[in-house]
Amino acid sequence: MSNAGERMLSGKRVLLVIGGGIAAYKALELIRRLRERGASVTPVLTRAGSEFVTPLSVSALSGQKVFRDLFDLTDEAEMGHIELSRSADLIVIAPATADLMAKMAAGLADDLASTLLLATDTAVLAAPAMNVRMWGHPATRRNVEALKSDGIRFVGPNQGDMACGEFGPGRMAEPAEIIAAAEAMLSQGPLAGRRVLVTSGPTQEPIDPVRYIANRSSGAQGTAIARALAGLGAEVVFVTGPADVAPPEGVEVVRVNTACEMLEAVQSVLPADAAIFAAAVADWRVKSASDSKLKKKPGALPALEFEENPDILATVSGMGQERPVLVVGFAAETDDVIGNATAKRARKGCDWILANDVSPATGIMGGQENAVTLITADGAEDWPRMSKREVAERLAQRIAGALA
Ligand code: C5P
Repeated sequence: MSNAGERMLSGKRVLLVIGGGIAAYKALELIRRLRERGASVTPVLTRAGSEFVTPLSVSALSGQKVFRDLFDLTDEAEMGHIELSRSADLIVIAPATADLMAKMAAGLADDLASTLLLATDTAVLAAPAMNVRMWGHPATRRNVEALKSDGIRFVGPNQGDMACGEFGPGRMAEPAEIIAAAEAMLSQGPLAGRRVLVTSGPTQEPIDPVRYIANRSSGAQGTAIARALAGLGAEVVFVTGPADVAPPEGVEVVRVNTACEMLEAVQSVLPADAAIFAAAVADWRVKSASDSKLKKKPGALPALEFEENPDILATVSGMGQERPVLVVGFAAETDDVIGNATAKRARKGCDWILANDVSPATGIMGGQENAVTLITADGAEDWPRMSKREVAERLAQRIAGALA
């Protein structure tokens, strides 16, 4: 990575709230990485946090005094808690424990961390970490939803082995992911303050518990678009089917399998300023997929009956008040690309269609390059063949122009 990339947080002031959880050890690494990138880090350690990492380590790594107690009069004389909460460019909570999030959702202010978080008018990024059951508990689900609608941004938690021996979502995001999310939030790019939804990848439609119908989409173009939009400062929500390509860092990822799940996820994350539908959604699903594995019977082939999947792009394009200002669809065609894509734009009711020729001879499906035509109300505009990353960057710039 370039030096410029490494110093992307140059001059930024981060207030880091370290909650009480085993993931607090990663906060030490986070402090180092934030400082490497040019940020200053003012640490706030909760009482429970100090059971996991010592104030000495935190202050040695941050090079700053550790704020711990609301009623520390010296601190109030030097810097009141209100000022402390507002003098930062960004507040990062890592780890954000179930308890701290519950306090925030309820508006409690019974210690320094919760008081700062209630008093602040600064952007807040939370990196939750907790046991998988605690993360899945309805109370935590409610609190996360409430905090999201209050404008708190989240990074993680990730799925994986946990310190408590269980497996599932609950592991705190890695320092690099937290930093990517922080950079996206602090970006001064033309899409700063804009929320953009991107769908990506294939969907899998079950036949029975072990078999499914899917397609060859790798998720490469959708991932590149999400990354490019985040690079221009957008808050990106990335709804993805089971793709080959890993989702970009610094975006909110919602994983789904089927088209119906994708529609539900899309509806739950709206409103957004723009929505880009790059997913290759299955047109049909198997009607009454079997709950048990279909058995091979000599001479008797299973007859699969299909039913139509919801058209997510058309559904969102037809929304009333919640419709994003800009809705962009894709059209993968093998012949009469412009004619078919222009008709598709009208049929789906979206604003733009990015059309491409996916005939096997082009090598585009699953490849690194793309040759697209942008179809808008003003007509068709051919873009030269370029990498999927360049297509994504050009599209992101156009979206920024349209939302300006
Ligand atoms: O109809 P067709 O699949 O060719 O349209 C492609 C566009 O529509 C893509 O943008 C795709 O993401 C979107 N789509 C969708 N839901 C479907 C089918 C397609 O959002 N069920």
